[in-house]
Amino acid sequence: MIKCFQNINRPPVWLMRQAGRVLPRYRKLRETYSFRELMETPQLAADVTLMPVEDLGVDFAIIFSDILIVPTALGMEIEWTDFGPKFLKPLCEEKNPSKTLKFSGEKFEHVYNAIDIVVENKKAPLIGFCGAPLTTLCYMIQGVSSKQNFPEAKKFFYTQSLETKNLIDIVTEISIEYALKQVEHGVEVFQIFESNAGILPTEMYKELILPSVKKIADAVRQKGIPVIFFPKGIGMGLINITSEICDIVGIDWQTDIWDARRLIDKKVKIQGNFDPHLLLTSKDKIAEEIGKYRKFFDENPDWIVNLGHGVLAETPFENVKFFVDTIKSLR
Ligand code: CP3
Repeated sequence: MIKCFQNINRPPVWLMRQAGRVLPRYRKLRETYSFRELMETPQLAADVTLMPVEDLGVDFAIIFSDILIVPTALGMEIEWTDFGPKFLKPLCEEKNPSKTLKFSGEKFEHVYNAIDIVVENKKAPLIGFCGAPLTTLCYMIQGVSSKQNFPEAKKFFYTQSLETKNLIDIVTEISIEYALKQVEHGVEVFQIFESNAGILPTEMYKELILPSVKKIADAVRQKGIPVIFFPKGIGMGLINITSEICDIVGIDWQTDIWDARRLIDKKVKIQGNFDPHLLLTSKDKIAEEIGKYRKFFDENPDWIVNLGHGVLAETPFENVKFFVDTIKSLR
């Protein structure tokens, strides 16, 4: 299904947040440029996108951008602080939040230009992405990421159901447009990041959010591009992730990969799910934990290796490289 990997007899591997502070060359660039400058300058974004392919040997590149580009294209001003992103005027402070959003497509142009450069380079298949509506809205409503459980956003979803629906519709529509343009510019796989799936009860997630995820995925899949859905923290809600929703599901590190395999529709492939903290330990420990996945690989040759969340900024580069090399030696 992912054409370029039909003939290798080992699992393909890439890492969420592979382009970032774990790479010495990225840290060097960050001494000169801010995160925003790196993202918004197509040549720099393309260079950073390819760094993990060149320096770590991962099998896929993922475009160097951020899920919070979508709210900025809806007119929300963002500041990238040392503690993470912060919206200057979160939607929880607005009376009619959906009326304050004004879409301007030019905000995405630098992403498409970066994609063109990476695709032209032909070094590795490129993954495009967007956030799923829940995760994107959590940041838009709450404004900051420091409150990990997004209390204002949750209250908003429970108490303002009409505005919640309006906002979901707006974010979904813009995400579809953004995703389809990424496909036009040549991404070969598309991942939908739902890092906050775990903040809602399973049934509420299924009814309120999953139909919008399906809409985004449908649009991309109709173009023949496989979709990876990463619903972090969804737990037993994995039973709702069928082949109607996506082609591949990214499993978080909390979930046992065999349980995930049992719960998810057999037609859906699995990506994941090593604990990012494992890469902070030692080469011996990393090799031992990879060994435990041997049987899973034997029974699931279409497994795609990844972590169960983003690689941690403080991870030693040599450990990440060792992880990738060890996976690539599996047969
Ligand atoms: O390598 C890649 O995965 C591609 C680029 C990418 C980034 N962010 C770059 C980034 C992707 C796919 C994302 C997704 C993203 N962004 C998510 C979903 C996945 C997840 O990690 O849960 C979320 C929730 C965001 C929002 C975001 N961006 C936060 C909360 C932060 C601060 C936390 C942190 O790690 O610094 C960011 C900043 C960010 N996005 C960095 C990078 C490389 C760090 C920038 C820097 O300081 O150099």
